[in-house]
Amino acid sequence: MTGYGVLAEVYEWLISDAKLPPAEFVASFDDVLNLLPSNAQVLDCSCGTGQLAVGLAGRGMQVVATDASEAMVRRTAELAEEFGASVRTVRANWEELPDHFQDNTFDMVFCVGNSLHHAAGATGRGAALESMSRLLRPGGRLVLTSRTWELVRARGSRLDIWDRLVRRNGRDAVVIYRWEIAPHWEDEHHIEIAIAQVDATGPVLVRSELLSCWPYRYEELEVELHQVGLQTELSTFDLDAENYMVVASKV
Ligand SMILES: C[S@@+](CC[C@H](N)C(=O)[O-])C[C@H]1O[C@@H](n2cnc3c(N)ncnc32)[C@H](O)[C@@H]1O
Repeated sequence: MTGYGVLAEVYEWLISDAKLPPAEFVASFDDVLNLLPSNAQVLDCSCGTGQLAVGLAGRGMQVVATDASEAMVRRTAELAEEFGASVRTVRANWEELPDHFQDNTFDMVFCVGNSLHHAAGATGRGAALESMSRLLRPGGRLVLTSRTWELVRARGSRLDIWDRLVRRNGRDAVVIYRWEIAPHWEDEHHIEIAIAQVDATGPVLVRSELLSCWPYRYEELEVELHQVGLQTELSTFDLDAENYMVVASKV
């Protein structure tokens, strides 16, 4: 199950204020972007609503944006049009990427914003990472950001109701995450995300979706990266932090 057909329409309520403008989203990767030539070929392989892809194009890079969700790819194309950015969009899940692009094509591949946990278990994750690695040119880098699943699992199943309304497109919404933490790491887990748009003068409009995910420990991810020919160059992993970034280069 891929999902995001429903959430794609309201995804901006899930993006922080600070990262909503493409230029701000891309700026959060300045350290790694400094490693690239100015006309670099880059791929965002889980592009969501396109903030990163459009931001990268704004820096003069040749950008391809892919996602398993047709609705997400459409939103990325719309954002690119709104910003006058040149972004090639393709609907493809990670395993399909080698059908669309030649090996050794990209200087950098991004898989960011809590996407990789949607790959189905160790086998699915291995296949996804293998695709990403194949598309990188030798010396090219994969940039991956992730939740710290060690922390998420330790908290167990729970409900997170954001303690402030999020305002987007003139509408306020309450955001709710329901975490279904399975007994074992390797089991399928679920996150249900609900966005309830509230208005004192009209009905509450709720959009929600149940997403499947398969968590992984940082140490597993490191091994899996090495198995597909990627060598960790930088990692911000910290057991006390909610998220981390890994940059791994193709040997
Ligand atoms: C949490 S969103 C992150 C989107 C974006 N990268 C961001 O940071 O806002 C996860 C994205 O991964 C995509 N996705 C899930 N499974 C996928 C797969 N097997 N192949 C490619 N993309 C996938 C979803 O459609 C969704 O757009």
